[in-house]
Order: sequence, then structure tokens, then C-alpha cells
Amino acid sequence: SHPSLTDPFGRRIDYLRLSVTDRCDLRCGYCLPKGFKGFEEPEHWLTFAEIERVVSAFTALGVRRVRLTGGEPLMRRHLPELAGRLSALPGLEDLSLSSNCTQMDALAEPLRRAGVRRLNVSLDSLRPEVFREITGGDLDRVLRGIAAAHEVGMNPIRVNAVVMRGVNDGEIEDLLDYCAARGFTLRLIEAMPMGATGQAAASAFGDLEPIKRRLEQRFALIPDILPGGGPARYYRVGATETRIGFITPISQHFCETCNRVRLTVDGTLYLCLGQDSSYPLLPLLREGIGDAELIEHLRRAIALKPERHEFKERPEQIIRFMSMTGG
Ligand code: GTP
Ligand code: 5AD
Ligand code: SF4
Repeated sequence: SHPSLTDPFGRRIDYLRLSVTDRCDLRCGYCLPKGFKGFEEPEHWLTFAEIERVVSAFTALGVRRVRLTGGEPLMRRHLPELAGRLSALPGLEDLSLSSNCTQMDALAEPLRRAGVRRLNVSLDSLRPEVFREITGGDLDRVLRGIAAAHEVGMNPIRVNAVVMRGVNDGEIEDLLDYCAARGFTLRLIEAMPMGATGQAAASAFGDLEPIKRRLEQRFALIPDILPGGGPARYYRVGATETRIGFITPISQHFCETCNRVRLTVDGTLYLCLGQDSSYPLLPLLREGIGDAELIEHLRRAIALKPERHEFKERPEQIIRFMSMTGG
């Protein structure tokens, strides 16, 4: 029989989001990661060997996709080396990355060589002052990073924009033009109440339905399916080749088709983005358990996966910040 991981609600889990650091060089208001001084790595962070071991146990159970997240994953030292080691694991078919691209200029080439193909990049504004206000960072540097990823052939490139009323909701069309000109796909995201910052953002910014209606007055939005297996609902924009995606965890959640779990840098498995249920793997790894035991623990963890988030019912419930799991 084929190995597979199925949760109590019959969902096949074949996608792991791997957070390789909880640090970030930006300061997005809806996220709020840890800062850092120097690059020393705490003892309780998984080493590359430990990460590789967990990922290969997952691939033995039928996990086919891994997405590298953070914090900002490019802040993890020697990330291309880790990417290369994961790409080489038999059974892993799709190694992707979610990044802010501030460090991409220098890392695009080594990451591409290490097998990273698909890139999702956070880009909430094309106006330098607005971008700085949202993130604390330099827009030009990010645009250069994205261009570098494009040049080395990362594909598809998907642009993530958290839509914030009164901040960037007037530039959706500009973001769409930027993406259309480069063959990228724009994805609009509803802020989720992760931690105090996420809670403030989610209550201030609301759902994407009005934005979608506004776009529909200009273009026909024709439902479409793109590969990737994630939560976005995609549409073709008019008669063009451009696609736009809507990620609507609040107004229209997508938990019935959830296929993923998350591993944090301290070796904790989170079974759902919007729930606290978790399973600590670090102590097990450091006790030196065997592969068969590790696989058994992963099965037990998946048995704890909740049916869905409760962002609407209990918005104040999640105290961990987005930066711990990288979404
Ligand atoms: P692909 O489908 O692989 O392209 O990626 P993705 O869209 O899942 O990943 P990305 O890191 O770009 O995340 C985009 C947005 O979707 C972020 O705001 C994530 O927090 C959110 N997201 C991703 N997976 C989940 C999920 O399982 N549940 C919820 N509620 N949000 C998610
Ligand atoms: N709600 C929704 N999306 C968020 N992101 C970060 N914080 C939040 C939040 N509170 C998004 C970023 C990034 C993606 C991985 O997660 O825009 O692109
Ligand atoms: Fe899956 Fe939880 Fe996200 Fe719903 S909120 S899609 S169950 S991770």
C-alpha cells in the first residue's frame, strides 16, 4: 500500500511548511517577528541534520511538498545548503519558498541551483513610502530581489499582498499591472488574527469581498485552477494570461481541503495555523529515537489535527505571532 497521512477528517496531508527561523529583517505591522543581533543560533533550534531527518520521515509518509518559511527564511544561515539537502530527498517533488526578498539579490542563484523553483514573495505596496510604513524596509531592494529570482528562472512567482483598508487597497490595480507585466500572479490576503498585531490588523482591515467586486467592474474574473495545492482561489483576469488569487481565511475559509502542517524552528509541529494544538518533536529527536518511532510520532501528531480554525469565533485566541510559523 502507498504510504499516506490522513487526518481524522479524511484530509490527506502531503504538504509541510517548514519555518527555518523566527527572525526577520522587516517589521510588518500585522506580523511582528523577533529581531536579531548577530547570527548566533540558539541551541533549541533544529540543526540541518535534524530538519532533514524530520522531512525524510514525512516523505516516507507521502509528503510531497515542502515550503520554506520563517520569519524570513533567507535570514537562516546557509539556507541554500539546507535547500539542496532537502531537494535531494527521494519523494520530495516540490520545494518552494515564501520570502520577503530583501536578501534575494545574492541568494537567488544558489537557491535556484539548490532546487527551489516556486517563490511566493510578500509585496504589499509599490509606493516606497507606503512600503516603508508597512514593513520598515526598502522597496527598491525588494524589487531588485524579485527581479533576481525572476532572472534565475524561479517560476511561478506569486506576489502576496495583505490588503489593508486605507493603506494599500487603492493600489491593487497597480500591483496587478506590475505582476501582469512580468508573468507573476497576484494574491490578495485577508489579515488573520495571529498574535496581538494580527488581531489589530484583522479587526481593522476586513474581508476581500468588496475588493473582488470592485475588480469585477473592470475585468471579468473567470475561475481557474493553478497548481500548488494552497488556499488561494484563482481567477483569470479578463481575456489575459494574468491570474489573480484570493486568500480568504476569514470570509470564506478553506479548511475542508487543508493538506498541510507546520514545523517551527524549535522543532514543534503545529497542526493548524489557527489553533494551538501542537506536538513537540525536539525532545524526541534529541533523545535519539529511531526512524520507525519518529514515523509513529508523526502519525500520532496528525491524529490531533483540528477540523478548522476559529478566527471568527475566537479572534483573540491565538497568541503566537505569524512569524513563528510563517503562515
Ligand atoms: P502555495 O499554494 O504553495 O503557492 O502556497 P501558499 O499560498 O500556501 O503559501 P504562502 O506562504 O504564500 O501563504 C500565503 C498566505 O496564505 C499567508 O497569509 C498564509 O498565512 C496563508 N496560509 C497558507 N496556508 C494556510 C492555511 O493552511 N491556513 C490558513 N488559514 N492560512 C494559510
Ligand atoms: N494575516 C495574513 N497573512 C499574513 N502574513 C503575515 N502575517 C499575516 C497575517 N496576520 C502573510 C505575509 C506573507 C505570508 C507568508 O503571510 O504577507 O506573504
Ligand atoms: Fe488548515 Fe487550519 Fe489553515 Fe484551516 S486554518 S486551512 S485547518 S491549517
